[in-house]
Amino acid sequence: MNGIAVAGAGLIGKRHLASLRTAAIPIHSVIDPDPASAAIAAEFGVPRYPNLADGLDAKPDGVVIATPNVLHMEGATACIAARVPVLVEKPITTELADAIRIIEAGEAANVPVLTGQHRRHLPVVRAAKERIDTGALGTLVAAHAMFWISKPDDYFKTPWRRSKGAGPILMNAIHDLDLLRYLLGEVESVRAVQTNRIRNHEIEDACAALITFESGLICTLQISDAVVSPWSFELTGHDNPAYPPTDQNALFIGGTHGSLALPRGEEWSDGGKRDWWQPISRKTLLRGGDDPLVAQLENFAAVIRGEEAPVCSGREGMKSLAALIALRDAAQNGKTEVPEV
Ligand SMILES: NC(=O)c1ccc[n+]([C@@H]2O[C@H](COP(=O)([O-])OP(=O)(O)OC[C@H]3O[C@@H](n4cnc5c(N)ncnc54)[C@H](O)[C@@H]3O)[C@@H](O)[C@H]2O)c1
Repeated sequence: MNGIAVAGAGLIGKRHLASLRTAAIPIHSVIDPDPASAAIAAEFGVPRYPNLADGLDAKPDGVVIATPNVLHMEGATACIAARVPVLVEKPITTELADAIRIIEAGEAANVPVLTGQHRRHLPVVRAAKERIDTGALGTLVAAHAMFWISKPDDYFKTPWRRSKGAGPILMNAIHDLDLLRYLLGEVESVRAVQTNRIRNHEIEDACAALITFESGLICTLQISDAVVSPWSFELTGHDNPAYPPTDQNALFIGGTHGSLALPRGEEWSDGGKRDWWQPISRKTLLRGGDDPLVAQLENFAAVIRGEEAPVCSGREGMKSLAALIALRDAAQNGKTEVPEV
């Protein structure tokens, strides 16, 4: 195996490099135009290429695209044209037409395309999906998801992170929407409102959404990167050691026979009594286990070897993006003013 190259050695690219090392998957190279990335390549003992064309010429077995969102389409289609499997960080693109282009190119060339959605690799998420799919919660009624976190001022010194194409809807809620779709099925419609009144950036700093699913389930989703709180999967999921963990939940799913709180994996049930005077009890689903970023790369390597199907395919990434674009557009347009009286 020539190894997997990482294009974009920034915040998450460095984590992918470390995760490849943990997984004992050969690292092919670091691809990044920033001269500072030479030191990162040296740290991992691999060559550095200043652009994707040079990196692809050196024949990696696969490429992780961890570049700014607006460069994903160009990077993914270059890999597909070179017949190199590609794992594209979330969001797969910032516009649906670009995602469709990637998926169609990948399927036409029979080159695997994966989307970086590492939460699908968390053991507790898989256990929750099994409980839902086997009907343990009864008919699903409602869900509530929280992404409230406080990004430091430093984060916004990188210009692309405060410009159109970034923002917590595209950057963060894509994880929550993908998780909701994975657990609850396809999204039917979205209503939303947003504000940028805290930082006054071009992009939003808070959004509240109402989501309906094809199953009839209704869902609320709260998004803000300007709130100090313990309620986000980032802080509660323990899936990225960079975040200081909290012992809270960030996703609540309710059905006619029980409910689930994630990522702590708490399942509440009344033992089938369906009587609000009866005590309800809690049991805990499987938690902990493998680092999901490592598991995601192991799946990518197995897809390259032809041994496994993608846990989150490019097509899945595109479907989650479709729901996200609907949310983003609703947040920009979907407000009805209350008349002054
Ligand atoms: N899965 C996750 O949990 C997670 C977390 C953070 C970021 N991300 C995603 O990863 C991507 C990168 O985010 P980030 O915060 O690491 O960004 P970043 O700004 O920290 O890093 C981006 C890197 O890409 C490099 N780059 C720019 N143009 C390039 C090109 N043409 N070819 C190769 N490299 C290029 C930059 O020099 C920089 O080093 C985004 O799509 C983001 O949404 C995912």
